[in-house]
Amino acid sequence: MPDTTILEPLEADQWFVDSQDLREFVTQAREISLSTAHNREETLSALEPHFAALLKKTDWLPEQFAQPNPGSGLGGGIGQWLLFRAQDRSLSVFSLVIPPGSKTPIHDHLSWGLVGLYKGEQEETVYRRVDNGELAGYAQLEIVGVYQVQRGSIYRLLPPDGDIHSVKATTVFAPSVSIHVMGNDTGSILRHQYQLEQNTVRSFRSGYSNAPYKEQRTDYAKFH
Ligand SMILES: [Fe+2]
Repeated sequence: MPDTTILEPLEADQWFVDSQDLREFVTQAREISLSTAHNREETLSALEPHFAALLKKTDWLPEQFAQPNPGSGLGGGIGQWLLFRAQDRSLSVFSLVIPPGSKTPIHDHLSWGLVGLYKGEQEETVYRRVDNGELAGYAQLEIVGVYQVQRGSIYRLLPPDGDIHSVKATTVFAPSVSIHVMGNDTGSILRHQYQLEQNTVRSFRSGYSNAPYKEQRTDYAKFH
């Protein structure tokens, strides 16, 4: 079975926002990701203060990247706007815009990552898988915790146990906007969506609101 998280490299790094603050952050994230590749807990700890500094600045994210998207791959009008992705897809930064009252499906990310609140408020519910994963399409989850996330707050994603969650906007009038920095091309890969009551799981690709993913070359997994 080919690894569905392996995608063909892009031709070059892709920037969707022209911001010196974002460029500096991405440079720091690349260095940290490489130097701490042996321990992703360390990656997250080292990256967090830099991410906190980026979140404190309020003028680097253009307004079109803080808008909902009616045609969302996540449903509910949720915008997922790509801000940067690395040529080898080992790093991406995107904004996730959740309209008031909307909620993401329960999903995973299959990578280390940091999520920080840029605007508004969210409630995050974290899940853990408690079945052995051997039955195709079946998944049993338990709730690990429910967290209120305020502007400037940062939380971590780290597989396997810290990677499954759902997020809803708790702001009433305006969308909530979170920034994600991830160790993969999260919107492009095939990952998982869970249905809690039915105990089911299925593959999905969220895509991005402003950038296509490139389909993987079928022979790529064989040669890399
Ligand atoms: Fe997520």
